[in-house]
Amino acid sequence: MIPVTKPFLPPIEEYQFYLDKVWKRNWLTNHGPLVNDLELRLKDYLGIDHLLYLANGTLALQVGIKALNLEGDVITTPFSYVATTSSLVWEGCNPVFVDIHPDSFNINENKIEDAITDKTTGIVVTHVFGNPCQVEKIVAIASNYNLKVIFDAAHAFGVHYKKKPLIMYGDVSVLSFHATKLFHTVEGGAVVTKNPGLLEKMAYLRNFGHEGTEAFNGLGINGKNSEFHAAMGLSNLKYIEIILAKYKENYNHYLSWLSKNENLEFQYIHPDARYNYAYFPVLFENEQILLTVKKELEKHQVFPRRYFYPSLDKLNYVEKQSVPVANDVASRILCLPMSSHYSHEEVEMVCRIVLRTLKFST
Ligand SMILES: Cc1ncc(COP(=O)(O)O)c(C=O)c1O
Repeated sequence: MIPVTKPFLPPIEEYQFYLDKVWKRNWLTNHGPLVNDLELRLKDYLGIDHLLYLANGTLALQVGIKALNLEGDVITTPFSYVATTSSLVWEGCNPVFVDIHPDSFNINENKIEDAITDKTTGIVVTHVFGNPCQVEKIVAIASNYNLKVIFDAAHAFGVHYKKKPLIMYGDVSVLSFHATKLFHTVEGGAVVTKNPGLLEKMAYLRNFGHEGTEAFNGLGINGKNSEFHAAMGLSNLKYIEIILAKYKENYNHYLSWLSKNENLEFQYIHPDARYNYAYFPVLFENEQILLTVKKELEKHQVFPRRYFYPSLDKLNYVEKQSVPVANDVASRILCLPMSSHYSHEEVEMVCRIVLRTLKFST
């Protein structure tokens, strides 16, 4: 079976090494030494000054939204994982969707200004599949209108933009370390900011607002993560270069095979990106062809995913809005299996099924 991804797992003795320390200390959660160590190593690896490790990427989004006091209308992308929109709604904001580019799948920054009203407080957008948005333009628009920016960088672990870490842009960037991500801690996430005051605010928000054991700085939530999750992160981080190299290899292998069919389209990656090759999305001519290919792959025990379908304007808890490009892309896009475990032979097998199905269905 070839699922959409198979998580990397470190040699079990290396995870056990950290578990032995947990048993010795009997310190399981609440900002333990492994969480601290992981935060330090992630900051070092990612090349940033401030990062807080949280329970998952969704909570990281919610903590960011709360810390920036977003309310009223927030401009966002309709083409992302549901958590980008649901976190806004959960925090009482009204998502205002701006359509996407048909080739990069990121928000169309040229349409953002038209959507700004006096109720707009922020912009929350995703680097889709790790491909950088037009960050400079988005940040400039936000600063002209006094809006806050959160970049949902759940897919963008390790991505650089113009030789700088992509997650340095915006007021807050959010990472996810869910098991489906190329760097994972089983469950996990992080908020990143350049602003030490904001970092302090988010640290309180992450821990119930605790100010010591007997006082509270304000409202907070339980956004902490455990020593067991940090142990997985510490074990996996040692292999990150090997993981990234394998993803790149598989991405290029897919591309060299599938570009033989001129009816397939692939994501346009920003030329100034040092990309992480985390996903391999394919855009088919129409939804019917996508469904035929998906069914044929599933018949052979290959399980791609319709990332992202449906487009988020279709959620039953948001106002209807017109985003035709996102609707069109969402109906025709399929992410093929990507993992550091997959061999060239497995990638080739997937490609052969796709190409063969296309040959007989067009
Ligand atoms: C774009 C995007 N944002 C947010 C999330 C939420 O992250 P998590 O699953 O860690 O809560 C995910 C992922 O799974 C995602 O893909």
